[in-house]
Amino acid sequence: MRALLLCGLALAGCTAAPPPPAGGPTGQALYRSFDPQVDALLAQMTLAEKIGQMTQADQEFLTDEAHIRTYALGSILNGGGSDPVTNSREDWTAMVQRYQDLASQTRLGIPLLYGVDAVHGHANVVGAVVFPHNIGLGATRNPDLVQEIAHVTAREVRATGINWTFAPSVAVPRDDRWGRTYEGFAEDPALVASLGEAAVRGYQGDDPGAPDRVVACAKHFAADGGTTLGTGITLDGVDYPFDRGDARISEAELREVHMQGYVTAIAAGVATIMPSYSSWNGVKASASRRMLTEIIKEELGFEGFLISDFAAIDEIPGDYRSDIETSINAGMDMVMVPARYELFVRTLTELVEDGSIPMSRIDDAVRRILRVKFAAGLFEPDWSAEPLHVAAFGSEAHRAVARQAVRESVVLLHNRDGRLPLAASLGRIHVVGAAADDIGIQSGGWTIEWQGATGAITEGTTILAGIREAAGPGTEVTHSADGSGAEGADVIVAVVGERPYAEMFGDDLALRLPEEDAAVIATASGAGVPVVTVLLSGRPLVVPEVFEASDAVLAAWLPGSEGGGVADVLFGTFAPTGRLPFTWPRTVAQQPLNLGDADYDPLFPYGFGLGY
Ligand code: GLC
Repeated sequence: MRALLLCGLALAGCTAAPPPPAGGPTGQALYRSFDPQVDALLAQMTLAEKIGQMTQADQEFLTDEAHIRTYALGSILNGGGSDPVTNSREDWTAMVQRYQDLASQTRLGIPLLYGVDAVHGHANVVGAVVFPHNIGLGATRNPDLVQEIAHVTAREVRATGINWTFAPSVAVPRDDRWGRTYEGFAEDPALVASLGEAAVRGYQGDDPGAPDRVVACAKHFAADGGTTLGTGITLDGVDYPFDRGDARISEAELREVHMQGYVTAIAAGVATIMPSYSSWNGVKASASRRMLTEIIKEELGFEGFLISDFAAIDEIPGDYRSDIETSINAGMDMVMVPARYELFVRTLTELVEDGSIPMSRIDDAVRRILRVKFAAGLFEPDWSAEPLHVAAFGSEAHRAVARQAVRESVVLLHNRDGRLPLAASLGRIHVVGAAADDIGIQSGGWTIEWQGATGAITEGTTILAGIREAAGPGTEVTHSADGSGAEGADVIVAVVGERPYAEMFGDDLALRLPEEDAAVIATASGAGVPVVTVLLSGRPLVVPEVFEASDAVLAAWLPGSEGGGVADVLFGTFAPTGRLPFTWPRTVAQQPLNLGDADYDPLFPYGFGLGY
């Protein structure tokens, strides 16, 4: 079937798009440069084929995999927790190839753009390197490192045959009580803009079709991190305070605080942008012509396509038919349906046939989608869904990049009497806390499962294992999850913090330690042994008891699979250089608390960090 497509393109006087020549168009001009080929293809397409390209289904909701062929779907995703038989690289690869084979059997044989949330490495897949979440990368202040991390992630994503990641988030979280704070680089728009641009360049390079690159997605437009307390979504009878809420802010604040990451991502050539579930002054982003067409496309010159969030258009007031009409007419190009794809196709078809949605809007959406597919190399004769860089997947070289990111992400907040770095000659180090020996806790949400999970959920090095590797030959390293057994040790290393969460399930009005870990600190502090605490969290926490009980406190955020990087800082192999990407409050009542606020009186200010 692909031969038919390529033949059709040739007949139309254009060959399948060669990769952009070195020095060829980059940035948003790259996408426009494919318009001759896009015109030729569009001219061949039926309405059904066009609507198919605008439809993204989650593979777990395919009632019949053949629907990929029947509806000529343009894209498939694996949403959080939507997994193949196992989370092995091999099963992910086999799944992607099976779906691409079905797409190749359509009349035009247009390959799928295959999307996944590889937001801190390809962390859905067992054995992939799991990088620190964005909050930790913000603490590094290192755009070159962020670019390298995105490039390594792109290679690991391509090792499963996938060609699109829904990253980077360029959210600017302003209230740390929001459950997605850790997906933001910082509270500072300028730092978010710098690191977001670096991430896009790492994922896509100048040629998103290159063998070691993937299509990126800047998300979630806009002010997803600026919603007002108490406006969050109600889901299954539960009111969430922030997530998917309403950002009640001026256009000036929208632009100055929440849009800078899109300006730089678009300049860097980002191919896709995801509008937010949240609203701006009462209007859902997914329904806002002002945001989607006037600002993103017309003002910022975005030439790729807009992909909705997961069933986000369903949350637009009205019925599903009006949701589709409103969102597509506002400028949405592809809809992450992700389950009711047959209803979506049928309803969108009716809306075009009755004139509610003009064909010109459909053609614009499909043009944008095809531009990105050309740029991603999907129409090159030698394109295939074959996995690439398989040997590098989860490799030591990739893990070394992650370990360096962990080192640079750690922020030293407190170091009484120079307790840190630990001497290699200590007699016994007693490590306490369940979190000390738990890859799942140190990785956080969006790891193997949507919400993440505790336990040995993927490969890597726990902080305890890292300490064991780093300790001197004469040093005994012991561990207890509950904090007991410290008597007689030279030092206690307490590893405590938040358990994994994602999205609305992370909305939290207290910012405290879990009870279990508060008890560990209480037990440890009663042992008469100096305490060093490593905090694992997706945001600053209000934990005065930790600072009271500890001679030293390190904020390690959500470091991912390479816990050895934390040990490197503990033992001084790497002196801490991390700087707070978020203001650390004295009390939760101070939230939201951000650099520049009038009554700015934090426990530790934005940018704070001690060294050795
Ligand atoms: C989720 C998130 C978005 C993610 C998408 C696909 O609900 O809001 O960040 O990319 O759905 O998993």
